[in-house]
Amino acid sequence: GLRASFPKGFVFGTATSAYQVEGMANKEGRGPSIWDTFVKIPGTIANNDTADVTVDQYHRYKEDIDIMKNLNFDAYRFSISWSRIFPDGTGKVNWKGVAYYNRLINYLLKRGITPYANLYHYDLPLALEQKYLGLLSDKVVKDFSDYAEFCFKTFGDRVKNWLTFNEPRVVAALGYDNGINAPARCSKAYGNCTAGSSGTEPYIAAHHLILSHAAAVQRYRKKYQKIQKGKIGILLDFLWYEPLTRSKADRYAAQRAIDFHVGWFIHPIVYGEYPKTMQNIVGNRLPKFTKEEVKMVMGSMDFVGINQYTAFYVYDPHQNKTKPNALGYQNDWNAKFAYDKNGVPIGPRAYSSWLYQVPWGLYKSITYIKEHYGNPPVILSENGMDNPGNQTLPKALHDTNRINYYRSYLEQLKKAVDDGANVVGYFAWSLLDNFEWRLGYTSRFGIVYVDFTTLKRYPKMSAFWFKKLLTKKKH
Ligand code: GCO
Repeated sequence: GLRASFPKGFVFGTATSAYQVEGMANKEGRGPSIWDTFVKIPGTIANNDTADVTVDQYHRYKEDIDIMKNLNFDAYRFSISWSRIFPDGTGKVNWKGVAYYNRLINYLLKRGITPYANLYHYDLPLALEQKYLGLLSDKVVKDFSDYAEFCFKTFGDRVKNWLTFNEPRVVAALGYDNGINAPARCSKAYGNCTAGSSGTEPYIAAHHLILSHAAAVQRYRKKYQKIQKGKIGILLDFLWYEPLTRSKADRYAAQRAIDFHVGWFIHPIVYGEYPKTMQNIVGNRLPKFTKEEVKMVMGSMDFVGINQYTAFYVYDPHQNKTKPNALGYQNDWNAKFAYDKNGVPIGPRAYSSWLYQVPWGLYKSITYIKEHYGNPPVILSENGMDNPGNQTLPKALHDTNRINYYRSYLEQLKKAVDDGANVVGYFAWSLLDNFEWRLGYTSRFGIVYVDFTTLKRYPKMSAFWFKKLLTKKKH
């Protein structure tokens, strides 16, 4: 089977995040995060839904872990809600929250599933946003690393795989440039914004994310890693950017897109500075690392998680900036995107408008990391596709398009591994249908269907496909 064709010890798992699956959002002592207030703004989330209940993993974690086990998965990537541990972001501990993660971790281990714990998946404690504008202040570096250290100390005897941040590029770009994620700040490039800067805030937020990541890693390495014998990394989203034509201008545009997207974070971590393209274009709006910070940031990962779903075509807009003087992160790229070439889509479309099935993009992305960043250990930490939320149950369970998606991506992943990429694990997004941010419950990414009224779980065909694929029995 396919499992046997991957290297020995290769890990297969599924991924979720706290806010998307836990529920009990304002119960059991949890403090609000910036998403809890964001979702309550009318018109923000499809059907004005919230994640107050979502799929209630807070109570149903045993059932969910039993499902993972039954499907032959080895690992589970979940996230810890910072404000469930520290309701105010810092200071007083909510011991009920600690007890919840202990129950979750202990049951995972009991069932032989390896925990991969991520410390931050978009859910900044609201208190810190109110106190000092959250990620825009360098105060967040200490508060995040205190929280991280508390988790290492409390859970690190059992958790051996740590991730600091999920998709910092999304946090900075969608939170501080186009304002479509919390805390909904935007650059002036987007005419209708009320809060935000002239193309500086995304860079400041990202800078503090990198420093917070590195400070947490430093604490882990100093005090915990030797004793606990674990690993720590970060999760980056990587869309593959394919030049629309072979012209030099389009190839440069694609390179800029890659640098502004994934290089923004991995470049400092591997080389101690932002990509040269970014330095040149953003100039003095791009924060600089001090010598001390360079030391802390460089090498601050034992492995890297790559979240990948899709690929876009990119082309050079011929310097024709549509909005002169409109400084904004996305404007700085000076690159435009297309989902098709001469009317031919880049791949079959999923439900989400940005998600096309482009498996060869995965091969190129993984190979890019190998060639440009010293072939670090990689986990493919998210991969998957959504179907519309309003399908009938029988139709939703019959998700042959998802099987086709997973098969094609895993084939490309295997090809990259065979060609020497140091990939050590794969996580499907997601175990369950869940709260899909702005799309609420109108998009379903799960290999297990959830009836959002009864909260009953129904494995889809794709779940059984994984079960067969991952069986350890030799055929
Ligand atoms: C992330 C992603 C997930 C999404 C998934 C499907 O930040 O890791 O946004 O939380 O649910 O990518 O869009």
